[in-house]
Amino acid sequence: MSEIKFYSGEQVPLEMHKVRMVQRVYLLPVEERAQRIQIAGYNTFLLQNKDIFLDMLTDSGVNAMSENQYASMLQADDSYAGSETYYRLEAVLKDMFGMEYFLPAHQGRACEHILARLLVKPDSVAVMNYHFTTSKAHIYAMGGTVEEIIIDEGLHINSDLPFKGNMDISKLEEAIARLGKEKISFIRIEAGTNLIGGQPVSMENMRQASKICRRAGIPLVFDASLLSDNLYFIKVREAEYKDTDVIEITREIGSLMDVIYFSARKLGAARGGGILTSDRGMFLQMREMIPLYEGFLTYGGMSVREMEAMSIGLRESLDMDIINQTPIFVEVLCNELIKKGIPVVTPPGGLGCHVDARQFCSHLSQDEYPAGALAAALYLAAGVRGMERGTLSEQRNPDGTEAVSKMELVRLAFPKRVFTLSQVKYVADRLTWLYENRSLIGGLEFEDEPKVLRFFFGRLKPKGNWPNALIRKFREDFGESL
Ligand code: F0G
Repeated sequence: MSEIKFYSGEQVPLEMHKVRMVQRVYLLPVEERAQRIQIAGYNTFLLQNKDIFLDMLTDSGVNAMSENQYASMLQADDSYAGSETYYRLEAVLKDMFGMEYFLPAHQGRACEHILARLLVKPDSVAVMNYHFTTSKAHIYAMGGTVEEIIIDEGLHINSDLPFKGNMDISKLEEAIARLGKEKISFIRIEAGTNLIGGQPVSMENMRQASKICRRAGIPLVFDASLLSDNLYFIKVREAEYKDTDVIEITREIGSLMDVIYFSARKLGAARGGGILTSDRGMFLQMREMIPLYEGFLTYGGMSVREMEAMSIGLRESLDMDIINQTPIFVEVLCNELIKKGIPVVTPPGGLGCHVDARQFCSHLSQDEYPAGALAAALYLAAGVRGMERGTLSEQRNPDGTEAVSKMELVRLAFPKRVFTLSQVKYVADRLTWLYENRSLIGGLEFEDEPKVLRFFFGRLKPKGNWPNALIRKFREDFGESL
């Protein structure tokens, strides 16, 4: 399945933008990279940006902004209460989703905190296509648990299903029948399902889920953080929407959901977040929490400049020529790697290219954190920072045993419109070298393990001195080059 639309005669995907501001980056020699990753406890989150050549950790808050976004920031109306900037943002969001109420929050997880406080009771279950780390952590913090009802194929690394992020509708019906309305805190659909490889959800699936939730009287919550990639996939993979305007798609989504929240570090290519609903009761309860946890109701922890840039960024995320760039580049990198036999999640999704570390490092067991080890090895080999999305990103079970992740991935994220095609080719080239030398990659173990969200600041060490062996081989094969 190929969605690449912009080809020249030589099959080059074309960017529908030009670069007018750049940042100098540096590539340290491999020996220095080895020191930096050691200092970082073999955790790519703890690397310093100055030591990184290509930062593919995340797109969060690091997307390239447009000239119109920057220009709008100069016109932001700086006021604690009643800022015009806020009203502009509220109007854009209400127009996009057709919902009645908007509440601002400082980022996506802040919305999750408010929603967990609103909806999660001790021992309740939040049922969802798949969890995201912060959404799950907030539900657990309020005493609830999570049940995932992704379609079985969503967890297969390779597939040609266009919407691997879909909920299994029969599992949804079964969960409601088994748990009952009282025990379910809410049903959550995550657009562009992050942890299974940025896989989209179809409109048809959302429609079915909405019907069931409405019948059962259970709130349906939509995490729209990764909506822009998902909108692209609805347009190109869901035949019924081929000729539908993107704004009509967002409005239809709005009509199906009881609550929509998002991280504007992703959606809208700015920073911040927000919650929308048309339910006055829920709105009033959440409104009480915003000044307590976020800030006054017309800024919610965001600067007016961020809000102004978000308004423009949200409007721009309705333009296919803008939102297609990430999925197209993800597909280019995936195809380059597939050609070399490197295991990646297929079909290519949004957000980034996801390498399957379980297959890549099939000699390692999951409690040796193969995705963490591969992310560290990639920084060593290339100065490229990816993100572990596997067992390390899980929280231990209450009895202290390792909660082995269903997928063991290294995510190579594409901040929107940041990288060039030659940089993408460089990543493919170094990953190919690493794949040829994969037997040299060893496991990791914790030196310092936080209890919650341990992947953010936990420190690890290699099992054995495999980084040295990797450097030696690098020097043999690449000579003097960096
Ligand atoms: N939901 C999803 C689907 C996300 O991907 C994220 C963040 C959040 C919620 C939380 O939003 O960071 O603004 O608090 N994802 C980032 C990532 C961290 O790198 O994928 P936040």
